[in-house]
Amino acid sequence: MANTKGKVYGVSLGPGDPELITIKALKTLQHSDKIYYPASVSEKKGNSSFSLPILRELGLNDLQLHPIPLKMSYDRSEAEGAYYALFEKIQEDINQDLHVSVVSEGDISFFSTFAYLLKHLKANAISYEMIPGVPAFILAGAKSKLPICTLSDKVLVDPNVDSPEDLLKRLQENDTIVLMKVSKVKDWIADFILEHQPELFYGEYLGTDKEFITDDAEVLRDRRIPYFTIIILKKLKKDKG
Ligand SMILES: C[S@@+](CC[C@H](N)C(=O)[O-])C[C@H]1O[C@@H](n2cnc3c(N)ncnc32)[C@H](O)[C@@H]1O
Repeated sequence: MANTKGKVYGVSLGPGDPELITIKALKTLQHSDKIYYPASVSEKKGNSSFSLPILRELGLNDLQLHPIPLKMSYDRSEAEGAYYALFEKIQEDINQDLHVSVVSEGDISFFSTFAYLLKHLKANAISYEMIPGVPAFILAGAKSKLPICTLSDKVLVDPNVDSPEDLLKRLQENDTIVLMKVSKVKDWIADFILEHQPELFYGEYLGTDKEFITDDAEVLRDRRIPYFTIIILKKLKKDKG
């Protein structure tokens, strides 16, 4: 590797299966003096991190690993504050000429909280590089054992569907819908699928030992759908133009 000190690396960890990290990402982590990883802090549920088991499985030294404590909250200012505090630490690291990485599960440029850090790096002219990785929806496609799209198919990745009407409209306008951050759909998605009969792929904690996948909407009726879930809906062939 070229001289990498004084630069911040945004490293994609891949979606959960440690073998789905890229060689470039792994080498960057192995060369890092410090690796910052997101960790959820919750009084009720305790602390948890999706990234930490991946980093440990990759054989990285615990001494390299430093949590970015993020409160389980939809309040954007909480995350902003946590990433500003991280930025201040990184400034000190850079002054000490350390090799610093900040990780994100999946791909670092795809719905990642790394974005909160970027503006501070840019504003302070700290150089950085982003190392791409496998996003979770690409793993979901592989787990479904079907292509996400072919030929001229239109694909919509959507983290913010409000209502069944909203989803139906999007399904009419696209061939494949990838639903992420599924909290808004979890109470009605089973009924929606049973009524409109799109092809379904449902995956929780993909690539981890808690993975659960199904193509049966009935199963979702009584299921507590967790945050780490991806739902792929496809227009049935008969409904395609
Ligand atoms: C903040 S976004 C991060 C996306 C990530 N950067 C990526 O490239 O996939 C979090 C959402 O990604 C999805 N997700 C991430 N990892 C997942 C996994 N291993 N299994 C299922 N869904 C996952 C879920 O929809 C979750 O709500």
